[in-house]
Amino acid sequence: MEYRIKDKSLSSYGKKKIEWAESHMPVMLSLQKKYQDSKPLKNLVIGGCLHVTKETAVLIKTLHAAGAEIAWSGCNPLSTSDDIAASLVVDDGLSIFASRGVTSKEYYDDIYSVLKFKPHLTIDDGADLTIEFHKTLNDYGANIIGGTEETTTGVMRLRALENTNKLQYPIIAVNDAETKHDFDNVYGTGQSALDGILRATNILIAGKTVVVAGYGHVGKGIASRAKGHGASVVITEVDPINALKAKMDGFMVKPMLEASALGDIFITSTGCRDVITGIHIEKMKYGAILSNAGHFNVEISIDDLKKLSTSVHNMNENVEQFILGNGNKVNLIGEGRLVNLVAAEGHPSEVMDMSFANQFLSVLKLAANRGSFENKIYDIDREQDLNIAQLKLESMDIKIDSLTQNQNRYLHEYGEGT
Ligand SMILES: NC(=O)c1ccc[n+]([C@@H]2O[C@H](COP(=O)([O-])OP(=O)(O)OC[C@H]3O[C@@H](n4cnc5c(N)ncnc54)[C@H](O)[C@@H]3O)[C@@H](O)[C@H]2O)c1
Repeated sequence: MEYRIKDKSLSSYGKKKIEWAESHMPVMLSLQKKYQDSKPLKNLVIGGCLHVTKETAVLIKTLHAAGAEIAWSGCNPLSTSDDIAASLVVDDGLSIFASRGVTSKEYYDDIYSVLKFKPHLTIDDGADLTIEFHKTLNDYGANIIGGTEETTTGVMRLRALENTNKLQYPIIAVNDAETKHDFDNVYGTGQSALDGILRATNILIAGKTVVVAGYGHVGKGIASRAKGHGASVVITEVDPINALKAKMDGFMVKPMLEASALGDIFITSTGCRDVITGIHIEKMKYGAILSNAGHFNVEISIDDLKKLSTSVHNMNENVEQFILGNGNKVNLIGEGRLVNLVAAEGHPSEVMDMSFANQFLSVLKLAANRGSFENKIYDIDREQDLNIAQLKLESMDIKIDSLTQNQNRYLHEYGEGT
């Protein structure tokens, strides 16, 4: 076992939090039980790069219970829970390379510590590990079978790699499963992004104007939660269809240049860069709050914010206040990184139960069918998606109807009409 974590003495706090997550992740526990004896991942090394949270710990422990050797790093400099990392090292004897507040060099050193284990399978969130692995396959890639990708931005980066014929091993796009993006991105980020803003600022959302950039899965979830708190919500978009959906869901839709002057709170969730730049910041209200829920810290231009400012003050653990040359004050949460992971605890366990069931089953599938996949991005099987939804319903004690033979026939025939 090797590791690089902040403080081993935090392990007892981490252990309790992992137990808490486990008790809210019944699908993962059922998978753990199902595969712990047969150990389908025996003799395989899994190299992971995904936020080290209590929910990720449940995924890691499930993979380990199924026989895998684990080497894991964080996928964001500010998202590691140090107590969880400590528990995984101390209580489970796993190789974890992650701590909160790493420099860019330490972040990549941790990824390389994972790659040195020569993984058979990779689990990534944002594609940083997969891209670095591609640069060093000659050194570390002898065993590689395949990998998975957790988030929208990571899938986009890997599709770009595939489109230039540079993808060197098969990837399953876990994000694209319905039981992932329609729940994790919508309800998970929707709730936890608001949670992050509240923990950092404790402001009243009712009566405020919240500007949400992007009305995709994440933006939709955030907008509906902000509305539920009593905010007026303004959406900015570049996609006419998603803009129309936002309008018909009852939100105001405006270009960012106009929305800039209206917002009390801004939350970017586009996966795109430079969504809020200097020209927007200059128009903002006194005391506006800026935050980001997209994968990378490129959505709000921190460079522009710095250029426009005469000084910066720490107002709270995750809040920096920028005093602008024009006399205005603008508050930035969590350095413009994922607000739900930096200022709160990330997605609730219940929703990660489904995302990580998709991760686990995808890894099993890659391992069981090694050599039969091409170097392409694969979608999750519909059957797997339906199975996970069914397991989740059962864990919630919810029963649904099933089609009768007649209904099934009717749905698959063209003959019966008016
Ligand atoms: N914080 C988290 O825990 C978390 C969870 C899931 C996804 N993510 C990340 O959130 C981001 C969004 O994910 P998603 O699943 O909602 O993606 P999505 O593709 O469903 O939605 C993105 C939306 O942003 C819009 N958009 C793109 N560029 C824009 C711009 N310049 N201005 C305004 N709108 C723009 C797109 O038209 C689209 O409607 C990604 O980076 C993803 O990786 C974060």
